[in-house]
Amino acid sequence: MIQFKNFTAAFGEREVLKSMTCNLTGNSITAIIGVSGSGKTTLLRVLCRMNDRIENFHIKGNILIGGKDIFRPDNNVYSLRRKVGMIFQKPCVFPISIFDNVVFGVREVTKIPKKDYPDLAEKVLREVFLWEEVKDRLNEKATTLSQGQQQRLTLARTLAVGPDVLLMDEPTSSLDPESTAAIEKLVISLKNRHTILWVTHQHDQAHSIADRVLVLKEGQVVDLPAPIERQENPSSLEDVLYNS
Ligand SMILES: Nc1ncnc2c1ncn2[C@@H]1O[C@H](COP(=O)(O)OP(=O)(O)OP(=O)(O)O)[C@@H](O)[C@H]1O
Ligand SMILES: [Mg+2]
Repeated sequence: MIQFKNFTAAFGEREVLKSMTCNLTGNSITAIIGVSGSGKTTLLRVLCRMNDRIENFHIKGNILIGGKDIFRPDNNVYSLRRKVGMIFQKPCVFPISIFDNVVFGVREVTKIPKKDYPDLAEKVLREVFLWEEVKDRLNEKATTLSQGQQQRLTLARTLAVGPDVLLMDEPTSSLDPESTAAIEKLVISLKNRHTILWVTHQHDQAHSIADRVLVLKEGQVVDLPAPIERQENPSSLEDVLYNS
């Protein structure tokens, strides 16, 4: 589903991803871990071409999604963002109503008729387990919701445009355990329909939700083979993370 082919991403002289080659299968959850500054966010951002406008940012090599090179000039960035949605660490809701937040992307990038918005909004809000909590306050500002509710709302907004790929950059790091559990449960329920990349600093979370755990180190990804409790030498996780 997603192929990195000899892919390099650099800010000026600083190469963050270095001739990275990796294939990610569809309909699965891949967790990405790595020390701060190792390039996890950069890796997600290039997949939806969010770094295109950064002045000194440049790339070499290819990324294919569903067999298509996302950087080819004829591959339009707006259609790419319909297929690839990103969720950030801090929920990013707009200071408009809950309902308008949910259909925001739908208005921008789809041709779905306006009369279908209410049904679509209900469908995606149910998918993110938020409908019961907000059905009576859809016209209230989204900023009145709790952090955990806001994060589920951003996910509903992303799902509403029907992406194939979901990129999640530490989506639960600012949430309490209950909201974290809700998001984890939700993401696991979505993997049959989406290819999910989940960046986390929590190794236990990576192992419990993901089908595959990748460690980003020195611009390359390596598979982290077994959950830490099953490894003979538990310190080997630190070896993978910090040592060459
Ligand atoms: N806009 C930018 N301009 C210049 N350098 C950048 C820019 N964005 C990121 N970098 C650099 O790229 C490297 C990777 O950053 P990135 O944010 O991808 O790391 P990360 O693994 O997500 O870190 P963290 O775990 O702290 O979120 C860092 O050295 C960072 O300073
Ligand atoms: Mg980051």
